[in-house]
Amino acid sequence: MAVVAAPPKTTLKTEKSEKIFKEALTLLPGGVNSPVRAFKSVGGQPIIFERVEGPYCFDVDGNKYVDYVGSWGPAIVGHAHPEVTEALTEQIKKGTSYGAPCELENVLAKIVIDRVPSIEMVRFVNSGTEACLSVLRLMRAYTKRDKLLKFVGCYHGHADSYLVQAGSGVATLGLPDSPGVPAASTAATLTATYNDLESVRQTFEANKDEIAGVILEPVVGNSGFIPPTQEFLEGLRQLCTDNGTLLCFDEVMTGFRIAKGCAQEHFGITPDLTTLGKVIGGGLPVGAYGGRRDIMQMVAPAGPMYQAGTLSGNPLAMTAGIKTLEILDRPGTYEHLDKVTGKLIQGILDAGREAGHEMCGGHISGMFGFFFTKGPVNCFEDATKADTAKFGRFHRGMLEKGVYLAPSAYEAGFTSLAHTDADVEHTIQAARETFAEI
Ligand SMILES: Cc1ncc(COP(=O)(O)O)c(C=O)c1O
Repeated sequence: MAVVAAPPKTTLKTEKSEKIFKEALTLLPGGVNSPVRAFKSVGGQPIIFERVEGPYCFDVDGNKYVDYVGSWGPAIVGHAHPEVTEALTEQIKKGTSYGAPCELENVLAKIVIDRVPSIEMVRFVNSGTEACLSVLRLMRAYTKRDKLLKFVGCYHGHADSYLVQAGSGVATLGLPDSPGVPAASTAATLTATYNDLESVRQTFEANKDEIAGVILEPVVGNSGFIPPTQEFLEGLRQLCTDNGTLLCFDEVMTGFRIAKGCAQEHFGITPDLTTLGKVIGGGLPVGAYGGRRDIMQMVAPAGPMYQAGTLSGNPLAMTAGIKTLEILDRPGTYEHLDKVTGKLIQGILDAGREAGHEMCGGHISGMFGFFFTKGPVNCFEDATKADTAKFGRFHRGMLEKGVYLAPSAYEAGFTSLAHTDADVEHTIQAARETFAEI
């Protein structure tokens, strides 16, 4: 889709950011190591971070922002939480990677198995992408079928098979599917429309006994924030059961953010398999996939499905994950996330509508989003009706006023335990002023 960049007007002090990004452009493709960071769809140059703390990020020019990106999700207890930092400092003295089993892997595994209703066994990897590509191989190995069904606008990392009508950076940059992905790699990838059970039913009918797995974001965050309907999730579960197809919830974004037992607990649906990432690494690189014991027993060396990793389960990443999940288990954490996020999104929507903008949006726990369209937005196609150029202007206006939002109209926002009422009020005031300008 066409992406219109906002004019890069700025009153922020950005000299150092500009100098560093200019150099980065000569060293890294597009100046970044992950595409959406480059601000391509919102206009202007990216801010170069110097440090993060609690709910804030600080750039190299000395500007401070309330951060609603949270490193794209992991920073749920707040950036550089002193207890996480202390645990990591202690662990680092014992080494960063063993390439051999360590007890910390059991500790994190037990927490995951205990909290996530459908997970009986888990395998740790290093990113969400790795978790999703591994789970696809597992679904195929277990069912002895090849086809995969995903939803338009859902992002499951950048493995070849998933780069078909994907969300996130692929949607942000308006790219179709990526060059370099052989047609053969996506030939077995089928797509359906999110929240549209009939489109799923038809796909099952047209591919009888051929679909290994259905994967989805149980709450979409990669086409902007789009919640599922309860009937959609229940219908998917039933269709998968009826067709001998595995259901995988990609909870890389929603895992331990939507609820203590992830989105599957919130909605009361039991998938066969789950992928995790972000929060379980507490800011270090971790991903995981897990599920029913009989399926997970297929994974090498217990079974024949091969998957491995030099740094998988490394003690540093396990430590950050364990401490983060420990903090999240304290009383009142999810209530806090729900309260601050609810206040934030309601304040933004009210301010926008009062200023005459057509808007819709919502939140579940510490995940939120809004669109510049009347809505409702139930699927990616609905999301594309939103005014992305206006979002670009809004993003820039908020940045100028000390609020760091995801630099794309197609990404959800995240809060943390560190976000206070005062941060939210500052944000709503900034939004009120920005809505009057755009
Ligand atoms: C739902 C979902 N799945 C998979 C991924 C890929 O994870 P990673 O970026 O850690 O490879 C993401 C990343 O944002 C995601 O949101």
